[in-house]
Amino acid sequence: MTTQPDYSALVAQAQLAREHAYCPYSHFAVGAAVLTASGRIFPGCNVENAAYPATICAERAALMGAYAAGEHAITAIAIIADTVGPVSPCGTCRQVIHELAPRCTVIMANLTGELHITTPQALLPGGFTPADLHRI
Ligand code: THU
Repeated sequence: MTTQPDYSALVAQAQLAREHAYCPYSHFAVGAAVLTASGRIFPGCNVENAAYPATICAERAALMGAYAAGEHAITAIAIIADTVGPVSPCGTCRQVIHELAPRCTVIMANLTGELHITTPQALLPGGFTPADLHRI
């Protein structure tokens, strides 16, 4: 039997980050937290814009924070929102997680404590990769 690591601290950080969501248009607050191999945690929240497509999702905000600090070894990302089941990352975020954190554990959560633990591969089978750029 394999024991699952305790992701409660990471989910708690994602929930804290969610408090900072800037979502005056959707009123849908999302939080994320990225854990690196060095043990650092990078928070993210969704930041919307009146020009709607300029909105940044919580997952991508957290991943960009880690990369901006030079941290590329991502071991886990937690995502949380006030959803019926664990929140599902959008397609764009699935693609970005797939490339920036391909071997991480993805923890999808909601405010009632439900979790779904998965992988970038499971979230985006056959995702576009850097290698595909050279298959012409
Ligand atoms: N949102 C995220 O932050 N992450 C996702 O994976 C899904 C969507 C945000 C974007 C927008 O601010 C709001 O949720 C509604 O789509």
